[in-house]
Amino acid sequence: MTEALLDDAGDELAASTSDASLRRTEARSAAIEREIAADPSKFRIMTGDRPTGALHIGHYFGSLANRVRLQDAGVETIILIADYQVITDRDGTGPIRERALGMVADYLAIGIDPARSTIYAHSAVPSLNQLLLPFLSLVTDAELRRNPTVKAELEATGDRPMSGLLLTYPVHQAADILFCKANLVPVGKDQLPHLEQTRVVARRFDERYGRANPAEPVFPQAEALLSKAPTVLGLDGTKMSKTKGNVIEIGMDADTTARLIKKAVTDSDRHITYDPANRPEVSNLLMLAALCTDGDPVAIADEIGDGGGGGLKRVVTEAVNSFFAPIRARRAELSADPGYLLSVLREGNARANAIGEATLDEVRQAMGMVY
Ligand code: TRP
Repeated sequence: MTEALLDDAGDELAASTSDASLRRTEARSAAIEREIAADPSKFRIMTGDRPTGALHIGHYFGSLANRVRLQDAGVETIILIADYQVITDRDGTGPIRERALGMVADYLAIGIDPARSTIYAHSAVPSLNQLLLPFLSLVTDAELRRNPTVKAELEATGDRPMSGLLLTYPVHQAADILFCKANLVPVGKDQLPHLEQTRVVARRFDERYGRANPAEPVFPQAEALLSKAPTVLGLDGTKMSKTKGNVIEIGMDADTTARLIKKAVTDSDRHITYDPANRPEVSNLLMLAALCTDGDPVAIADEIGDGGGGGLKRVVTEAVNSFFAPIRARRAELSADPGYLLSVLREGNARANAIGEATLDEVRQAMGMVY
């Protein structure tokens, strides 16, 4: 093993969230958008979610809506229900089957079309998981320990010790992306270190085992597609998270939504203004109304004027409930037929298995493990 191969990607990983790097990624994302408009067939998208709870409207505006847009633009889209990733930082899988099928219902309800897009689960695709073995030999523990996302997630779990799976999950995520040779991953900036790790793993694999012709690497260099969507915070103005109870789920009914928005945190100034720096909670609610009505948060604030928190909440409730009404109606229909949801997932799993087997064959070939 040459030292050089495993040298110093820790710095690249740490740098992937620096301001300069972020600006480069943003500029590249804009260029990729133009390439997609010109020829969507050049790209294969892979992205996913952990089934740790129901998908919520933060997920919707932050990433799910963008997936539907890309699918509809003609880009092949592969969506992972990352069930093995659930146990990186918790004991047990929870009501995993119900959550996975609930996510299938969410995806279909918002417009993911199972005829064009593939929805699959980690645990159903052995070839993907097997890639973890050669990939783990291509990274060092120091590099993994310096991964900013692993660090952040370790901190978020309080005094839990780091599990081997939490430490290595960026490599597993590289396998998620590379098993299907995806070249585009729509993500938020917190996931950029994983993308960098994925590129490092792909590059090292090809340096070590690659084909005679380096112009035909086994694995592509996947790129991040940063979404322009603003982050929607929870109803208390902090990050939307199920454990904080500040979440509006995509599948919630209108009354529950209204009740939750009524309890949302605002402030004592009755004159409503859009001022994210000084009035984060009020501004977050205005942004949510704007996203749901395709409007402008400043104009919505002007309309509410001196209506206070009550007036603001009425506007937000109406906006969220009208926007999600058709999605929720479709979701309710889909949920009434769990057999159908299961058949969509099984079909996606079968497609993912075929893709993964083909990639694993190439990997075995490259490594000389052909028996
Ligand atoms: N880590 C991602 C999250 O927490 C989910 C995920 C798993 C993912 N594998 C992926 C995202 C591959 C993009 C590509 O949301």
